Parts: sequence; structure tokens; C-alpha cells
Amino acid sequence: PSELGIDSLPYVGVIGGSGLYEAGFFSDYFEVQIHTPYGLPSDNVVIGRVGGEWVAFLPRHGRGHRYPPHRIPYRANAWALWALGVKVVISVSAVGSLRQDFAPGDFVIPDQFFDATKGREYTFFDGPRTCHIQIGLEPFNPIINQLLYEEASRVNRTHLGGCYVCIEGPRFSTKAESRVWRDVYGCDIIGMTLVPEINLVRELGMCYSLLALVTDYDIWVPHQPVTAELVERVMSEKLDLARKVLLSVIPRIPRDVHVKCEEVLKNACV
Ligand code: ADE
Repeated sequence: PSELGIDSLPYVGVIGGSGLYEAGFFSDYFEVQIHTPYGLPSDNVVIGRVGGEWVAFLPRHGRGHRYPPHRIPYRANAWALWALGVKVVISVSAVGSLRQDFAPGDFVIPDQFFDATKGREYTFFDGPRTCHIQIGLEPFNPIINQLLYEEASRVNRTHLGGCYVCIEGPRFSTKAESRVWRDVYGCDIIGMTLVPEINLVRELGMCYSLLALVTDYDIWVPHQPVTAELVERVMSEKLDLARKVLLSVIPRIPRDVHVKCEEVLKNACV
């Protein structure tokens, strides 16, 4: 902390998705450029105060949306937050809905995911150290998920639980693909950025939860197929609500919630 000129390290890091390029809820803040063994993250990390404490913010795509989903420096992003002392990562993302009752404008707090990406940098353990983390039961943190649900449902229609399928992109799915994500994979929401973000954050022993905002019905409502313009528009309409949720959740996160998340590396390495 003394190197950064602050009295304590940020416990919570927020990764903002499409549309959320500025935290917008800090009372005072400064920026740091973090060099990592994996290069620079998507942007400078903004460290700001929420109530009495410091929070780190990083826009996933960089300001101006410079990094498409398959080019995001995911390893540098996770590393930068971890190097700042962050123990809990809350992400915000736009997602498509694969079911009728998750409507555009709703929030979803997923509890499972399915990886349908094709070629990204998935791990910090590229050898010679070989580790296999086990996050299958609780990839997302259930305590933070519950807090997100309580605060989000105060201000907006919100669904607790759901499976997020992460596709490679950057194109949206075909109708046939969308049917597979829904009927074969049994997933509820769809996006392009959860993987490998969640893998990497968890490999560093941090907790991870996602506040997902439904922007569209993907391709299966024929008269309104998803477009990038639609995603940005719905996102911008709900951005202030997402900020409000973060602002009320962050102070409620128990300061020992990370202890269980750190156990992920126990018995993981060969
Ligand atoms: N992000 C927002 N909507 C999406 C969709 N339908 N497919 C993939 N990523 C998305």
C-alpha cells in the first residue's frame, strides 16, 4: 500500500464489460499502469474509494473497446489485479439469453459455465509446473452471488443461478449453434468473455462472481437477432443500475470470503 500511497490494498476488483469503461462510483481515485509477465492489461487500473475502502477497476476491453473478446489480455488482467492485492473479482458483462423468462434488461447471477471457446490462453500453469485446479462445484462464489442477488433484485428483475456458455466469437452464433447451447448444453445465457477470465482469476486464488446483464435473445427470436449495437444500447440503459448494485454489494462482502477461494491450489499440482 505505501508504494501506492494508500492505507490498505484493494480487497475487491471490478472488471467492467461492454459499456462499462469507467467505474463511475469512486469518490476519489488514481490510475496505475501495471506491467505483468504477460504484458500490459487492457488498460490502466483505476483505484478509487468506495466508502472507507479502496477498490480496483479494470475495463475488460480497454477504454474505446480496443480489445475484442478473443484478443483480451486475460492473463495480464488477472495478474494485474492479483498483484495489487485483490482477493475478490466481480465482473460485469453483457450476455444473450437462451430462455424466454430471462428477458433483455434482466440481471442474471450465474452459478455454472460451459466453455465453448476454441483457442485462448487458458492457464498460468504452462509448465514446467503443472497444476489442475478444481472449480467444478463452485466456479462462482456462492456468498458473493447471494449478495449480488439481494442487491440487484432491489433495483431490477434478477435471476439467481444459471449456466453461462462462453463462445469464441467474435461473430454471434448461428441458429443451429444457439439451439445446441440451449437444448444440448442446457445453458441459460451466452457471452464471449467469461473464459478464460474465470479460470485465471481462480488459478490465482481469488474469488469470482459475475453480474450479467441480458441484452438480447441471441438468435432464436427471429424478428430481433442480436447485434453489437443492440448490446451496447441495452447495456448503456442499465449501466447506472449495475453501478448501484456494485456500490451496495462491495461493503457487504465478508473480509474472509477469500480464504475458501485460496484453497483451490491445495492438492492441485503434480
Ligand atoms: N453478448 C451479448 N449478447 C450476446 C450473444 N447473444 N452472444 C454472445 N455474446 C453476447
